[in-house]
Parts: sequence; structure tokens; C-alpha cells
Amino acid sequence: MNNCFERTGPLAELGSYPQWAQDMVADCADTRRRVLDHDIWKMMTTLQLDHESTRNFMMGLWPFIERFPSFMALNLLKTRYGRSPGDDKARRWLVRNIRVEQNHAEYWLNWAEGAGVPRDELLHGTPPAGTGGLSHWCEEISARGTLAAGMVATNYAIEGVTGDWAQMVYDSAQYRESFDPSIRAASLRWLHLHAAYDDVHPWEALDIVCTLMGETPSAGDVAHLTECIKRSYVSMILLGDRCIRSCRDLWVAREAAA
Ligand SMILES: [Fe+2]
Repeated sequence: MNNCFERTGPLAELGSYPQWAQDMVADCADTRRRVLDHDIWKMMTTLQLDHESTRNFMMGLWPFIERFPSFMALNLLKTRYGRSPGDDKARRWLVRNIRVEQNHAEYWLNWAEGAGVPRDELLHGTPPAGTGGLSHWCEEISARGTLAAGMVATNYAIEGVTGDWAQMVYDSAQYRESFDPSIRAASLRWLHLHAAYDDVHPWEALDIVCTLMGETPSAGDVAHLTECIKRSYVSMILLGDRCIRSCRDLWVAREAAA
């Protein structure tokens, strides 16, 4: 029996992937939805995020943004050229895409500054307590998990859902126009670049994961990957919760009254 997975269908269609992967994505859909339904995005796009919450968000996500290429490098360390088609694919993709991430940290600092959080605070301040879960998790799974687990948690799950929330925020004219025209384009560059419009990265990551795992991985291996995806989403939800902890109640009351 040939256990190898070689995609023949379109990259960005779930039906092109093995049944186990389709089931895994379906299993994680509710948790992914919870990230996208989080109040923080609604508060952000309607300009109701207060300064403290904005600062929590910018500073809380910064270590993750800054470390993202390093997570990819940790996964790259696990590849061995010529060992398997999945290894080769992962190696080629990670080498190329670490470079793509090069300027994204700088763009995040520009966004933060435009939103009123000085770059010095991100560079030299301490992230708010309780915001470290996402970057710790990604570091842990990228350093010590399998190549497939590391990539599914970061390049598939987090990049995928981030593309969706970035698009939601970027699509808000109200949000975009809250930035002074003189700094608008520079402030919003990170969001624009990460908005998912036609982003194929998460699909490419899923393709690599399926190539690594083959058509018939064990139920235990699939359960582990599913757990990794959910954990990435939940880490993002908890980070969002922490960011708006102090102003959410006020916002919910205001929404209810409106
Ligand atoms: Fe990026």
C-alpha cells in the first residue's frame, strides 16, 4: 500500500487533502471560530479599545511577532535533506519563508506606534503578565515537538487564523481612518500584509504536514496534531481575553444598552 500523500487537487481547497486532514480541520473549526468571534476585534474596529487594552495587545503579542521567524528556524532544524519528500518540502519552504518574515517585526512596531504605544515600550518594557502563553507554546512545540506538530501549530494554525483576524481589522474603514493620513500606510502595513485575501501560506503548511504524515497516519498522531492546532487557537483566545480584561465589562454593558 502506498502511504505517501501527493497533492493533485488545488492547493487552497480542503478536498485536495487526505480525509484525516479534512476531519482534523473540521474538528478544530469551532475553536477557530472562537478566535474570530472574540470581542477584541469588534472593540478594535469600532474604536472602543481603550489605551490600556491596546497597549496590552501590542506588547502582549510583540514577543510572539518578534520570535516568529525563530519558531520557523527551530522547525527547520528538524529537517534533513533527502530523508523524505516531506522533509525536503518543509526545508525549502522554511528557508524561503523565514526571509519573508524579516521585516514583519519592524512593521509591528510601526503599527504599535501609530496606535499610540511607543516602540521603546515594546523593545524595553515588560509584556503584561499573563500574555506569554502563545509565544511560550509556539516556542515549546517548535523546539520539542515533531516537525509536523511544530508547523501545524504555527504556520498552519496561527498564520491561518491571524490572516483572518488581520483581514477583519484591515477591512474596517473606521479603523483605518483612525490613523492620521501621514502615517496611515506605514502603520497599517503589518495588517495589510497579513490580511488573508489570497494568502497561501497556511495551505502550503497544511500541504507539508500532510506530505510528512502520509495518507494513513495513526489515530494517535492525528489526535496530537488536532490538539496542537486547538492549543494554538486557545492561546490566542486567552491572549485576547487578557488584553481586554479591564474594559470588556464596560463595553458589553454599552453594547447591551445600545
Ligand atoms: Fe509575518
